[in-house]
Amino acid sequence: MSILASLRPATRSLAHIRAFSSTPVHKLYIQSNLQNDQTHPNLASPMDPNAKVYDFRSDTVTAPTDEMFDIMKSASRGDDVFQEDYNVNDLEHFVSSITGHEAGMFCASGTMSNQLGLRTHLQQPPHSVLCDHRSHVFLWEAGGISFHSQANVSPVYAHNGVHITAEEVINNIVEEDLHTAPTKVVSLENTLNGMIFPIEEIKRISEHARARGIKMHLDGARLWNAHQETGVPLSEYGRYFDSMSLCLSKGVGAPIGSILVGDAKFIRKSRHFRKLFGGGWRQAGGMAKVAKHCIENIVPTMPQTHKIARRLANELQDMGITLTFPQMTNMVFINTASAGVTINDILPALLRRNIKIGGNGTTSRLVLHHQINDEAADILLDTLRDVIAHKKSLGARPVSASEIKQDAVKAYTQ
Ligand SMILES: Cc1ncc(COP(=O)(O)O)c(C=O)c1O
Repeated sequence: MSILASLRPATRSLAHIRAFSSTPVHKLYIQSNLQNDQTHPNLASPMDPNAKVYDFRSDTVTAPTDEMFDIMKSASRGDDVFQEDYNVNDLEHFVSSITGHEAGMFCASGTMSNQLGLRTHLQQPPHSVLCDHRSHVFLWEAGGISFHSQANVSPVYAHNGVHITAEEVINNIVEEDLHTAPTKVVSLENTLNGMIFPIEEIKRISEHARARGIKMHLDGARLWNAHQETGVPLSEYGRYFDSMSLCLSKGVGAPIGSILVGDAKFIRKSRHFRKLFGGGWRQAGGMAKVAKHCIENIVPTMPQTHKIARRLANELQDMGITLTFPQMTNMVFINTASAGVTINDILPALLRRNIKIGGNGTTSRLVLHHQINDEAADILLDTLRDVIAHKKSLGARPVSASEIKQDAVKAYTQ
């Protein structure tokens, strides 16, 4: 069965009204390498400071709502280093239970929970971690695997474009030998660039790895999205991993945090490393209480977000824009070259209509979340249609490499 055909339609309905930050925008923010955003050469007129801003750069941008600040007021105020805070303990217990693990640890960020998870598995160099070559733990955590764990990385190319396979894992496992840094951990990511890792393949990889004494770690920053889209229970994913990191401050919508889960002994050791990292925090109850609220109230709205992303992907393709990865959840990766425009061509027009995107040359990643609605998608689509039509009227052709080199919009990768 193809990967796309294996996806089950989401069954949970949109139960909660979307909440938007009402904070007016005072400063224009363009994701670019220019020092002063206001001097962007293409921005003829300013944004409307009172209009709602829709931010497609990442799901990390989700802003805490007034309701969330109210929830924080009633949170417990104990010390989490002493493990005495009720709401932190409750959140850790809740997430470890739903993922089928014994224990959990609330951390400040996904980078911290990933790196602590890997560090706890990796006991003594020489050793290495095997992962997809596009993995966050390999590319976007500041080289943390080499820094914290003194480990080598075996980045594996995913030939099907979506996920690495059991065969690719087996072919790239580094054996114990005088000359090598043997594989001690296989680290998977789900979703990766918004793409869902099929559970059957995770099972096959896990069985092979564990049979060889290799630990399984999951960067599940967006496992919530995969779970909501496929209907596969979190505990089913949990069966195939010795540790999992689940982010709370991305699509879940909480202001801060990530959870590492594993068995009790593993989490005890990770807690020790968290202190060593300087990540032992004190009165974190407010953040924990909000995070649980978001899991219960925002996670069930993800299928609705995915539906908007699907419509966006379809309509963008109708305009001649290509998708660089299949759209499966909340991310739409695009290349605008064949439509004859660059990201710098569309960026100012979008900003004038209070839409933020990131990008580089002719590529961009549009990320949807609970603070993006159909109206936002419509504004984005209408604006792109207008810009493409305008460029066409000037005789635009597909954008060539020499043209895109001049663009100076930074990629946004979180
Ligand atoms: C897949 C993935 N894993 C981990 C992280 C790290 O999370 P954080 O930004 O909280 O460190 C991110 C996002 O930044 C991510 O996209």
